[in-house]
Amino acid sequence: MRIIENISEMQRLADTWRAGRERIAFVPTMGFFHEGHLDLMRTARKLGTKAVISIFVNPTQFAPTEDFESYPRDLQRDIDLSTAVGTDLAFVPRVDEMYPEGFQTYVNVTQVTENLCGMSRPVFFRGVATVVSKLFHAVKPHIAVFGQKDFQQLVSIRRMVKDMNMDIDIVGHPIVREQDGLAMSSRNTYLKPGERPAALRLNRSLKEAQELVDLGERNATVILKAVNDRLTTGGGATVDYARLCDPDTIEDVEVISGPTLLALAVWVGKTRLIDNRVLLLPA
Ligand code: PAJ
Repeated sequence: MRIIENISEMQRLADTWRAGRERIAFVPTMGFFHEGHLDLMRTARKLGTKAVISIFVNPTQFAPTEDFESYPRDLQRDIDLSTAVGTDLAFVPRVDEMYPEGFQTYVNVTQVTENLCGMSRPVFFRGVATVVSKLFHAVKPHIAVFGQKDFQQLVSIRRMVKDMNMDIDIVGHPIVREQDGLAMSSRNTYLKPGERPAALRLNRSLKEAQELVDLGERNATVILKAVNDRLTTGGGATVDYARLCDPDTIEDVEVISGPTLLALAVWVGKTRLIDNRVLLLPA
């Protein structure tokens, strides 16, 4: 697998590939790979003739109080894992390559970023939209793959691509989970062994919410009360948010009348976990 650190070198190679009628499928990441990341790469491998990843822990999406410095990193392991799934190229820019002195332009997606993580992480989506936009300009992909684990991120990227007329197909990939149901995340490495039972309540509460809908419950307040009870009973978990939203607009809904996003962010000890599920009405 080839590794490129420099933006203009990446752009020249992308131009050469495009001139040769290659289809570039791209997976942006912050590294420290798990099966979720690798599955996105396998999808990119299938969808394109060239599969490209980026590995870049993006400082602009972290608030000063957040874990930018301590975010887990292991470049050699990431390179080995992505090579093994058939990735052609890793774009691995340095921070000063992406944000040289004098940098002052940001991409701001508005409505769909206001709720959920936009409330608890004020600079997050501005940083994500900005870096993904810059990565798109560097890699020049035809297709880009994003995980539904970060559902609001996926919706905001789709919005940006549409609003900015970017000629890129955005593909959403289902959430990849551990055998015990925990959604895979690079941040799961922060969890202490004793914290796992609390972490597992996220997926459990998502399942139970779907069961309530299957039994005929449509009232968001009732469902969210059950979710909150499940998350907090047994201790060790503090709910940042648990909300039912329209999956397109990310606005809160009060009554479930179609596919509805149940989105969770929960602190388990010092680890902030997110998870979600689109609740469906019985056929
Ligand atoms: P990162 O957290 O490394 O995730 C990279 C991609 O992997 C994202 O599209 C994310 O949704 C997806 N992903 C992570 N865990 C997943 C899981 N368990 N199942 C399915 N997909 C999963 O998301 C980011 O990086 C950054 O915000 C980024 C988009 C790279 C911008 O900096």
